[in-house]
Amino acid sequence: MALWGGRFSGDAAQAVRVFTESVSYDKRLYKHDICGSKAHAAMLGAAGIIPKKSADAICRELDRIRKRIDRGDFTFTADLEDIHMHIESALIEALGDEGARVHTARSRNDQIALDIRLYLRDEIDVLAQGIRGLQKAMILQADAHDRTILPGFTHLQHAQPVLFAHHFLAYVEMFERDLGRLADARKRINILPLGSGALAGTTLPIDREFVRKQLKFPAMTQNSMDAVADRDFACELLAALSIFCMHISRLSEDLILWMSQEFSFMTFGDAFCTGSSLMPQKKNPDLAELSRGKTGRVYGDLVSLLTICKGLPLTYNRDLQEDKEPLFDAIDTVSGILSVYPGMIGSMTLNESRMLQAASDPGLMATDLAEALVRKGVPFRNAHRMVGQLVRYAQDRNKPLDRLTLAEMKKVMPAADASMKKLFSAEHAVSGREIPGGTGYRAVRSQLDQWKKSLKLR
Ligand code: ARG
Repeated sequence: MALWGGRFSGDAAQAVRVFTESVSYDKRLYKHDICGSKAHAAMLGAAGIIPKKSADAICRELDRIRKRIDRGDFTFTADLEDIHMHIESALIEALGDEGARVHTARSRNDQIALDIRLYLRDEIDVLAQGIRGLQKAMILQADAHDRTILPGFTHLQHAQPVLFAHHFLAYVEMFERDLGRLADARKRINILPLGSGALAGTTLPIDREFVRKQLKFPAMTQNSMDAVADRDFACELLAALSIFCMHISRLSEDLILWMSQEFSFMTFGDAFCTGSSLMPQKKNPDLAELSRGKTGRVYGDLVSLLTICKGLPLTYNRDLQEDKEPLFDAIDTVSGILSVYPGMIGSMTLNESRMLQAASDPGLMATDLAEALVRKGVPFRNAHRMVGQLVRYAQDRNKPLDRLTLAEMKKVMPAADASMKKLFSAEHAVSGREIPGGTGYRAVRSQLDQWKKSLKLR
């Protein structure tokens, strides 16, 4: 008979039990469930709602149950629905009536809201550490190649030369904002919902402040109906993880392109690639591809949870049990990505001469030429047009831009002079961009040094 079986005439059919169970996946919450139950029991004892000695016995037995689950000496069955029922049943089995006091002034509705918050609070800390590790791996690569130049792209067309370090630090900035979003979501997760009961609180004189302190929550929920009904905090986390994955997916795309034979900008270490079962020559960037692919799952997890919540009348509805699998899946997926990505980044070997060669196409310096004209007093829009005409002139004659004579240049841009010839070098283009946030050698060095200092690298 289920713990809630009092008003029922018999047990649920087997198919119903299988359909409604969640223990097969929510058992991963057992440590947090036990931690919450211990705080709740201690409070019940301290507030005189249950005998102090029952509270102590419950806490001791909960520790024993935790150890049993730790070592795999605990049976999970669909008959007991979820992790809460399993632990409460084990408690009652061990302590009899004393154990039957633990669920006083509590519902599984506020209990599960608590468990998820405790769990997510911990998981966010682990994920954030992983993202930090990824940032560090990228900063170290950038630092080791602080003078390497490659073409920057817009529309996947060569645009202007940039430093490889600048390109990598762009992602480090994105990951920093991802960390900010995780920290922000954590603030709203880190609030105690326990004490809300099923939806309306309780007639018993519980001490929520006691539990809040014990579980180290900086605040408690202010509305019991809100506390059991909403999962917006979980949606926020999934949104933050989705955005992180979007960044990972873009980085993956860059790296996959760079490793293609057409780019040949770099390769990963063998340990971070896989081969083909048919084509013996293949070395594929599967980790980056899978990370790009898994981004789709995480978006799916976010959309699942938003959709689960969107039609629910207040307060708790069983639909909310479906919040867990998308949450766990997103966390597992991002953890998986973070378990391989920093190593993969660290294993990169750059083909620096190939990168420089691609960035040395004189067409990439057309903007610098226009800006040189601006320095001579030509209005930018006119300079842009003149350089555009020069590009067309060179193309029509099948000549690279830097092979035109000064006389040819002067034909379309009267303000041209001999010094403009030196603009057609990628190094020159990079070194001219020393504004804050620019791709100049010193500007990027100072960004690198700031990152290294703030992440305590070296
Ligand atoms: N397993 C449930 C969940 O995950 C716990 C709450 C169930 N509450 C209820 N009244 N059936 O949401």
